[in-house]
Amino acid sequence: MPSYVVTGVSRGIGWAFLKQLSSDSTNTVIGIVRNKPATDKRVAEELTERSNITILQADMTDYDAIKKAAQDSAKITGGSIDYIIANAALVSQWDAYDGIGTLGAHPEELTEQFHGLMDTNVLGTVHLYNLFMPQILKGKTRKVIVISSGMADTDLVNDYEIELAPLYATSKAAVNMITAKYNAQYKKDGVLFLSICPGMVEVGHFSHISTAKPEEQAALLGMIEKFKRYEPTFEGPITPEESVKAVLSVIESASVEKGYGGAYLSHFGTKRWI
Ligand SMILES: NC(=O)c1ccc[n+]([C@@H]2O[C@H](COP(=O)([O-])OP(=O)(O)OC[C@H]3O[C@@H](n4cnc5c(N)ncnc54)[C@H](OP(=O)(O)O)[C@@H]3O)[C@@H](O)[C@H]2O)c1
Repeated sequence: MPSYVVTGVSRGIGWAFLKQLSSDSTNTVIGIVRNKPATDKRVAEELTERSNITILQADMTDYDAIKKAAQDSAKITGGSIDYIIANAALVSQWDAYDGIGTLGAHPEELTEQFHGLMDTNVLGTVHLYNLFMPQILKGKTRKVIVISSGMADTDLVNDYEIELAPLYATSKAAVNMITAKYNAQYKKDGVLFLSICPGMVEVGHFSHISTAKPEEQAALLGMIEKFKRYEPTFEGPITPEESVKAVLSVIESASVEKGYGGAYLSHFGTKRWI
C-alpha cells in the first residue's frame, strides 16, 4: 500500500497527480493545498468514491501549517510515507515576458517577486522535506521528488538565449541544488531525491496568450521559436495527464542503486526538456 504526499493538488499538474495516483485504490494519497474546502469540493464532484484521498491544508510559506500537515499525515499513514512529490510552486506571470535587465527598471516589484518565488518554491520545499523526513525514513520506497523546470538548465538558457522568466528559473535552479544537498545527506539512508521537469504543460498559462498584450505575445512566440530550434519536432504543450504519466514512470524506474540520487531530469528521464 504505497503512500504519497503531493503538494499543490488543487489544479494543473498537481490535480493530475491526485487523479492518476488515486485511481489505484491500493495507493494512499495525501494532497496538500491552500484552499482545502475548494479542493474537497472538487474531489467530491470529480473523483467520487475515492476513499484513498485525504486533502490537508498548508501554504508552502507557512512553516507551522506544513508542520501540522505532517502531523496529520502521520496519523493517516501510521507514521511512514513512501513518496513526496513537491509540486506546488509560485509560477510568476510578472517575469514571464521579460529579461532580468528589463525587470530591473522596477526594483521594488522585482524584490517582492523574488522573495515570493524563493519563499514558496525553495524554502517551502526545504521545510516540507525536513518536516516529512522522519516519515520518509520510516517508509519502504523512500522517494522524494520536486517538480523543477527545464528553464533552470543553464546550457539551454545559454545556447538558446532563453531570457524570459529569469526569477522563476532562478528559483528552480535553487531547487535543483536543494535536491543535490538532500541527496548528499540522505543517500546513505537509501532516500532517492530527484528534480523532474514535467515538460511544457498546458494548465491555462498558455491559453491566455490570445488576450495578452501584443509585446507579451511577441515575447512568448519568440520563446516558442527558440524551443522549435532546440527541438524541431516540438508542436506545443502537452496535457497534465500526459506529463504526469511520464513523470510517474521516471519516478518508478529511478533509484539510488541505479545512480539517480540527486539527479535533475526531464519527464523523458533524460536532459531533453521538450
Ligand atoms: N506547466 C508547465 O509547463 C510547467 C513547466 C515546468 C515546470 N512546471 C512546474 O510544475 C508544477 C505545477 O505547476 P502547474 O503548471 O500545475 O501550475 P499551476 O496550475 O499554477 O499550479 C500551481 C499549484 O501550486 C499551488 N501553489 C502556489 N503557491 C502556493 C503556496 N504558496 N502554497 C501552497 N501551494 C501553492 C497552487 O495552489 P492554488 O490553487 O492555491 O493557487 C497550485 O495548486 C510547478 O512546480 C511548476 O513550476 C510547470
